[in-house]
Amino acid sequence: MKALILVGGFGTRLRPLTLSVPKPLVDFANKPMILHQIEALKAIGVTEVVLAINYQPEVMLNFLKDFEAKLGIKITCSQETEPLGTAGPLALARDKLIDKSGEPFFVLNSDVISEYPLKEMIGFHKGHGGEASIMVTKVDEPSKYGVVVMEETTGQVDKFVEKPKLFVGNKINAGIYLLNPSVLDRIELRPTSIEKEVFPKIAAEKKLFAMVLPGFWMDIGQPRDYITGLRLYLDSLRKKSSSKLASGSHIIGNVIVDETANIGEGCLIGPDVAIGPGCIIEPGVRLSRCTVMRGVRIKKHACVSSSIIGWHSTVGQWARVENMTILGEDVHVCDEIYSNGGVVLPHKEIKSNILKPEIVM
Ligand code: GDD
Ligand code: MG
Repeated sequence: MKALILVGGFGTRLRPLTLSVPKPLVDFANKPMILHQIEALKAIGVTEVVLAINYQPEVMLNFLKDFEAKLGIKITCSQETEPLGTAGPLALARDKLIDKSGEPFFVLNSDVISEYPLKEMIGFHKGHGGEASIMVTKVDEPSKYGVVVMEETTGQVDKFVEKPKLFVGNKINAGIYLLNPSVLDRIELRPTSIEKEVFPKIAAEKKLFAMVLPGFWMDIGQPRDYITGLRLYLDSLRKKSSSKLASGSHIIGNVIVDETANIGEGCLIGPDVAIGPGCIIEPGVRLSRCTVMRGVRIKKHACVSSSIIGWHSTVGQWARVENMTILGEDVHVCDEIYSNGGVVLPHKEIKSNILKPEIVM
């Protein structure tokens, strides 16, 4: 079976992290986002993943070369010379997606994190006999997504409305599709939106079916959602009694710590924290609801909450970093500094307090 991951877009909403790497390579729970997806695809027998990409393909391929061998899966790029939207890339990769068996293929948005019940999805797809299956999930604020109105019992989709202005329902497109090769015949090689131009047509012909995603789901393309997504992801590890969760008297709630990270005496870590490889957390540090990426040093008695600390940054002693502070790669926050929602570009040194949410260039 084959799969295509939509890796385009510039990830502007996840800046400054995406100034260092393409969005799918931003770490989430100590692992680049896209690896969560590739591993889930591999687990159900996908043999080839096509990355539909419109910039920096060499960065992606270089990075993924190791994983290709490790996971035993073929990873190729299909590069656009202009952004082709969410459907055009399928037309471009047509020859890579079709195989002789006529099997359906998966398509995934790259900025989504969830349970991946892909096996169940294959069963669902075979069962309804339509042309396309999409996964849906319930959200409180449907207007920023694609909303799906479906028949509850069969899953047949009546309507697909991308980013509706008026309320049509609260089940939304989760960005995980299983499509018959015939869907490719509906897509021209030009910038096209699968959500606006393809799904509504298949729905009108009663050939689009939706399956409600069991478990958690989050589009982590924005910092606030990224932090919420980490909480949901760690919750789901807890429900599965995963051995990946840290334990000890210094841990509160759900926390993951890479085995190469070092945590000093008297720290209090959690809830909802991810500490990446090679991090040094000095004594007396307090961390909650945050991601600390590879190679970061948090100095003595600093306090970090509801924030993302980018690769190889340092937070000085007694510093206080909170309220959606996002530090890009290699940022240095001096001792005793306070950051309230600072969004700091890579390679900066922060010598004075950031009192209200702002971008520091
Ligand atoms: N190759 C390529 N080329 N990929 C693209 C392009 C492009 O021109 N434009 C967007 N993508 C990729 C993005 O990287 C992302 O993985 C996916 O397509 C969806 O684009 P987003 O820009 O993240 O869309 P969205 O979040 O506003 O809405 C989409 O996702 C929602 C769920 O998170 C839609 O699919 C909604 O219907 C859906 O509910
Ligand atoms: Mg998105």
